[in-house]
Amino acid sequence: EAAEKGGYDHFMIKEIYEQPKAIKDTLSPRINKDNVIKLDDIKITKEELEKINRVYIIACGTAYHAGLLGKVLIEKYVKIPVIADVASEFRYGSPFIDENTLMIVVSQSGETADTLAALRLAKKNNAKVYAVTNVVGSTISREADEVFYTWAGPEIAVASTKAYTTQLVSMALIALDMAVKKGTIDKKEYDKVLNELRGLSEKAQRILDNTELIKKASEKIYKAQSVFFIGRGIDYDVAREGSLKLKEISYIHSEAMAAGELKHGTIALIEEGTPVIAIATQERLYDKMLSNIKEVKARGAYVIALTKQGNEEIEKTADTVIYIPDVVDELTSVLSVIPLQLLAYYVAVMRGCDVDKPRNLAKSVTVE
Ligand code: G6P
Repeated sequence: EAAEKGGYDHFMIKEIYEQPKAIKDTLSPRINKDNVIKLDDIKITKEELEKINRVYIIACGTAYHAGLLGKVLIEKYVKIPVIADVASEFRYGSPFIDENTLMIVVSQSGETADTLAALRLAKKNNAKVYAVTNVVGSTISREADEVFYTWAGPEIAVASTKAYTTQLVSMALIALDMAVKKGTIDKKEYDKVLNELRGLSEKAQRILDNTELIKKASEKIYKAQSVFFIGRGIDYDVAREGSLKLKEISYIHSEAMAAGELKHGTIALIEEGTPVIAIATQERLYDKMLSNIKEVKARGAYVIALTKQGNEEIEKTADTVIYIPDVVDELTSVLSVIPLQLLAYYVAVMRGCDVDKPRNLAKSVTVE
């Protein structure tokens, strides 16, 4: 096992450090030399795509959090309404599924029971199903109409890291491919996002090369009873993933809140010293986040802010600021999740937890 860990203490940290490569491996085969996305894995035609009037993105756990980005990007670039839901809720609801529905299931293992059941429900009702999965030949990959593989390589740690970041870039590729086929994105925007996608791997590496501040922040929070993650839009989605990472491996109670909802309840729990991780990468929501940070600071919170390079005035309000390299707002989560993964990892190690095999959790949940 030590050999498999390649010199790292745990699989989780090894997999966190494999992300630049995983991102690159997932992107490179799908972007040709003329800077155009070519998804050989997804053969849907323009005509088929034009019929689709509703998209469901269904998954569990971390894969669901990646699906949330799919919703944002498909609604923005493809202009089709998207519902993202966890599979265990979706399958017992009353979804509207017909031959004009597209379902995208996201699953690292390709074996999660609830996700598979959602896929079967969609197929039974004549929907088209895409699977985004990391395991070649998995049940979900065999039953879906189209399979898009994340080339993250085997993920051993129970807490998912590199699968998530590759699922995020997959969401972007799928959304852009649909948008081009439907003609709903202009060339300038398409080129911009594509260029930014290509830069992600190197930027992820930059974060991994400089982790001192994240270690220091972990020391500040590792004894906490409760940690709150706040954000808006894409930052709220990544807050949910950051919170899940922390709770699953460190056993610290944590909650992610849409920052604008704080005052409707959660702010009552903020006391002197309560750690709040505030994610503020979205330009049009930045000022709103600054006011939310001030609100929790006024109640005594210890605020660790996460933002893009260039947003230095946040240092006036937050106690610690962690920067990610500048990147287009639509893709920030691919980078902002990395400090959150590292934070969860360092905290869990400081607390002496079994990082790779947290109690009560399984890597693949094949029973309901
Ligand atoms: C389990 C794992 C999670 C994972 C979820 C969905 O709970 O511990 O890390 O996100 O299942 O798994 P899947 O293989 O479908 O992505």
